[in-house]
Amino acid sequence: MCGIVGVVSSNNVNEKLFNGLANLEYRGYDSVGMCFIKNKRFYIKKGVGKLEEVHKKVNFLKLNGNIGLGHCRWSTHGGVTEKNAHPHVDCKNRISVVHNGIIENYSELKEGLIKNGHKFYSQTDTEVIAHLIEDSLKDSRIEDAVRNALKRVEGSYALGILFAGQPDKLIAARNESPLVIGIGNNENFIASDVPSILSYTKKVIYLDDKEIAVLTKEHVGIFGLDGNKKNKKTQTISWSAEAAQKSGYRHFMLKEIYEQPRAIADTLDERLLNGNVVFEKEFSLADDYLTKINRIVIVACGTSWHAGLIGKFMLEELAKIPTDVEYGSEFRYRHPLLDKNTLVIAISQSGETADTIAALKEAKKHGVKTLSICNAMGSSITRMSEGVIYTRAGPEIGVASTKAFTTQLAVLYLFTILLSKIRKTLNEKQIKDMIEGIRRIPLQLQSVLDEDDEILKCAELYHHKLNSIYLGRGVNFPIALEGALKLKEVSYIHAEGYPAAEMKHGPIALIDKSMPVVFIAPHDVYTYKKVLGNIEEVKARGGIIIAVATENDKEIPKKAKHTIFIPKTLYTLSSILSVVPLQLLAYHIADKLGRDIDKPRSLAKTVTVE
Ligand code: M6R
Repeated sequence: MCGIVGVVSSNNVNEKLFNGLANLEYRGYDSVGMCFIKNKRFYIKKGVGKLEEVHKKVNFLKLNGNIGLGHCRWSTHGGVTEKNAHPHVDCKNRISVVHNGIIENYSELKEGLIKNGHKFYSQTDTEVIAHLIEDSLKDSRIEDAVRNALKRVEGSYALGILFAGQPDKLIAARNESPLVIGIGNNENFIASDVPSILSYTKKVIYLDDKEIAVLTKEHVGIFGLDGNKKNKKTQTISWSAEAAQKSGYRHFMLKEIYEQPRAIADTLDERLLNGNVVFEKEFSLADDYLTKINRIVIVACGTSWHAGLIGKFMLEELAKIPTDVEYGSEFRYRHPLLDKNTLVIAISQSGETADTIAALKEAKKHGVKTLSICNAMGSSITRMSEGVIYTRAGPEIGVASTKAFTTQLAVLYLFTILLSKIRKTLNEKQIKDMIEGIRRIPLQLQSVLDEDDEILKCAELYHHKLNSIYLGRGVNFPIALEGALKLKEVSYIHAEGYPAAEMKHGPIALIDKSMPVVFIAPHDVYTYKKVLGNIEEVKARGGIIIAVATENDKEIPKKAKHTIFIPKTLYTLSSILSVVPLQLLAYHIADKLGRDIDKPRSLAKTVTVE
């Protein structure tokens, strides 16, 4: 996955690069490196480990120059070694490259380059790019050499490139890996994401696939691989720089859990008007079309896929539209059957997840309309879809998705109201109740957060357990999956999410008196009574029961060892509340175990490889 950042300025850029890298570290933290040009020579420092660890050894801030690149690595090709850390250079140390992505034909390119006398220093796929540019350089301009080199490359890349002989020019290129250009005041930036440069500029240009940007401190030019100049729109980002800081919290994950009342309130803001749901102009799907659709297919990965599963409940129960939910990574290999009345919805926090992008591309091949539900403005997925509804969670930095998930649920709920109204599947009173229900959610979330002490107690008691099971039925089953995913990601404890009634078909054999079993059991008219029976089954086998229940529930506290209460709300909305105790439980357990919560091992926030 990797993170890249670059700056060209009239001032020393080392702090900007360092801070940029600190903000990008969620993308990869195997190794880190920086490169500056001074007196037409490269000064490179790199090492294995996280930014702070390597910084202690090499002191990145001692480097200086008015142009530079930084990289944090999530290794794909070549082990985690200093040699494989970026930047990589050509034979004559004139071209320096940082890269995020995978060069798929690197082996054959490398073979050819070696035959032509190039010497390789690392085992990475990235290094071929430096040598390919060197090969193409001869008498041409550096930007032409980059273009010619990239024409020979297959695969994905976001690239930052420096040429020692031209210390005023930074070159960037993109294909299927995210890259944004930041427009500053007498300085310009490249970065893998917006938050990493948000303290310096809010004006950005999103590069599209197969585009090259040539940056000097005063100017940004964007070209296609054919060399033709492109006119691109500069967009202004609405996120504040503070939103990407920890603001006194020990971890981003905790801050982001606690931000949920605000994030939901923002997601609803100005979208509920006079009993109607109103989306912004980028939603762009006409009522006429929305009346005609007869099927929805949701594509997403990880936590966003869990949001899709809950979306299915909303869309089928309330808007009466048959809905399938697919993993992005599976969809394109399944020969999906889609027709013109199918709407495909992509859900993604980052808007850059390679598997979801691939699924969206597959959908578009079938000529269907697509809608994205996304948190990152201007990201790839939003640019590929006909319609967009933004979640307004603000930057989510912690690798474990929390506020992005609950705002995705809020958007799916709003979209369901809109469809139900257009398609007349609910009456005015039902719509009114739904709107009132979601309006209460920010305040109700606050009261769930107030249960944190009880959740902390559970974490203190059970953080040493090696396994756990999460059970729920109906709309609570995806929440069980999400609770288990949160625990796995940040604490590395094995956890399984199961439909509570499926337990008796196998997993019940795992239950003994050492097994914590988390039940998501808010009161509802569908499965509540059955779940009480499932709780008894676990109790009979000695399992340690932690339950999430509706306030004033008298039955569950009699059966569970610990009960965490959430306020009463509508069935499909309860998931926004019931997931929060599970996020906090995962957080506190990971904290007790001393895990690196915001950067769990092997995980990256944005998974830009398929
Ligand atoms: O950015 P996306 O929503 O597309 O990301 C999808 C998954 O990679 C993501 O939800 C992942 O599962 C999270 N780490 C979960 O906390």
